Amino acid sequence: MLKKALVATPTLVEAQTPANKNGGTGSESNSGAGNKTINSYRGGKHMEMGSLKDLFIDQLKDIYSAETQVTKALPKMAKAASSTELQNAFKSHLEQTQAQLKRLEEIFDGLGKSPKGKKCKGMEGLLEEGEEMISEDADPDVLDAGLIAAAQRVEHYEISAYGTARSYARVLGEGKATSLLEKSLQEESETDKKLNRLAEGQINLRAQKD
Ligand SMILES: [Fe+2]
Ligand SMILES: [Fe+2]
Repeated sequence: MLKKALVATPTLVEAQTPANKNGGTGSESNSGAGNKTINSYRGGKHMEMGSLKDLFIDQLKDIYSAETQVTKALPKMAKAASSTELQNAFKSHLEQTQAQLKRLEEIFDGLGKSPKGKKCKGMEGLLEEGEEMISEDADPDVLDAGLIAAAQRVEHYEISAYGTARSYARVLGEGKATSLLEKSLQEESETDKKLNRLAEGQINLRAQKD
């Protein structure tokens, strides 16, 4: 009983309420689910987030939205980069990201659920910061360093998200989902390391002009 009382759901739900109200995008028209969750929770019945499986699906939807946003941002980042290696890193990660979306679709198919219905605001914010970087009046080498900074934030966010989802899949006995999520997790981690090598190997030094 004590354990149940300590579960963070009420806080989480309260934290989501203003975000849902302020979100304002059309894609959130079905996020009235958030309010339903509060009512359901308070009523103690029919919880929409009543199990780890519900949370798993919710997290997967969040990742699906995040990855969809990333596929739109990476071409812009590749175009903005001056270093050919950095351009290629963004382009090859775009291909990986498209494959990651396919993996998520495969998982949703297996679960009999739709990947749609959620907007990842965390990724939206990170990508907005990347766009801000692109719109700065920056020296090309400094911009490359800044693009890597933005991209690595994205990779770390994804590493966290995939790590969590993979752990849930494992506990839920979803073997296929576990291995698909693990594969994407490894790709995000490799991409992060590649960006680190580019930054520390040459781009940061090039950006340091005076
Ligand atoms: Fe990704
Ligand atoms: Fe990524």
